[in-house]
Amino acid sequence: MAFPKQVRLVEMSPRDGLQNEPGPVIATDIKTGLIDRLADCGLSHIEAASFVSPKWVPQMGDAADVMAGITRKPGVRYSALTPNLKGFEGALAAGVNEVAVFGAASESFTRKNINCSIAESLERFAPVVEEARKHDIPVRGYVSTVLGCPYEGDIQPDQVATVAKALYDMGCYEISLGDTIGVGTPLKAKKMLEAVARHIPVGRLAAHFHDTYGQALANLYAVVEEGIAVIDSSVAGLGGCPYAKGASGNVATEDVLYLLNGLGIKTGVDLDKLVATGDWICGQLNRHNGSKVGQALGGQCE
Ligand code: HMG
Ligand code: MG
Repeated sequence: MAFPKQVRLVEMSPRDGLQNEPGPVIATDIKTGLIDRLADCGLSHIEAASFVSPKWVPQMGDAADVMAGITRKPGVRYSALTPNLKGFEGALAAGVNEVAVFGAASESFTRKNINCSIAESLERFAPVVEEARKHDIPVRGYVSTVLGCPYEGDIQPDQVATVAKALYDMGCYEISLGDTIGVGTPLKAKKMLEAVARHIPVGRLAAHFHDTYGQALANLYAVVEEGIAVIDSSVAGLGGCPYAKGASGNVATEDVLYLLNGLGIKTGVDLDKLVATGDWICGQLNRHNGSKVGQALGGQCE
C-alpha cells in the first residue's frame, strides 16, 4: 500500500496531554490559550476536554468552562471524551462538535480506567452513541492497550479487532487504536493493524501511539505505509494516562509533522507556529519539552 497524500492530525494535548499533569489543577485560561493557539497552527481536530468524573481525573474538572472559554475557529472540530450518558449530556450542553467513547482490549485496564468490564463498557457506550446520533454528533471510539497492557502484558491482535469491531458496528465513525503504554514496535503494530483491518476499512482507523519507549515515530511510519491517514499526537509530547503507570505522553505533534513533511504528506499544519505553541505551553507549565523537533527548532524551555 502507498503512503496517503494527506493525514489528519488529531491534537491530544488539551486532553491526553493535560489530564495527568501533576500538581494543582491547571488554570482554565491556560487550557483555552493552548486550544486557541493549536487551532491557529492549522490543526482541524482538537480533543479539547473530557467529561469524566472529576474525582477520577481532577485536571479535566473544568471541561465545561474550557469549552465556553475557547474562541471557536470555523472548520475546527472540538471534541471531548464521554464515558457514559452523564458525560455526553455535559458535552452536548457545552457545545462540542464530536464526542469519543473509550474502551480497551484488556479487561484489567478497562476495569482500572473506567471501573467496569469490556462487556459492561460496550453496554454503557451504546446509549451514548444512540443519543449522539439523535443530535448529529459524530462519535469516535478508542481502543486502549492495543500493543500491550500494563497489567496483562501482551495483547493478542484478535482481541483488539473484537473490541474495535464492536465499537465500529455500534456506530463509531472512526476507531483510534491506542498504544497506551508505548511498548509497541513496528512489526507488531503492522500485525495488529492487519487484524483490525480485516473488519474495519483502514480509512476508518487512527493511530494513537504513546512514546514511552521511543518507538512511536517508527510505529507510525509502519502503519502510515499501510494506509493509516489519521494520527493522534500531542504538542511537546505532553501527557500520560492516569491508569497506566509509567505511561508517557503521546508522540509529539511537532515530531510527527516533521516526519510527514519529509514524506511530502500534507496536513495543513504550520510547523513554526506549532513549535512556538509547544514552547509556550512548556513555559506555562514549567515543564520539559518532550518534542525533539521542538527542542531543535525552538529550545526556549529547559
Ligand atoms: P464509576 O465510579 O464507576 O461511576 O466511574 P458511577 O456511575 O458509579 O458514578 C460515580 C460518581 O461519578 C457519581 O458521583 C457520578 O455522578 C459521577 P457521586 O454520586 O459519587 O458524587 N460521574 C460523573 N461525573 C462527571 N462526569 C461523568 C460522570 N460519570 C459518573 N461523566 C467513570 C465510572 C467512567 C465515570 C469513571 O471511571 C471515570 O470518570 N473514569 C475516568 C477515566 C479517564 O478519564 N481516563 C483517562 C482517559 S482514557 C485515556 O487516556 C486513553 C486514551 O488516551 C487512549 C490510549 O492512550 O490508549 C483515550
Ligand atoms: Mg492516550
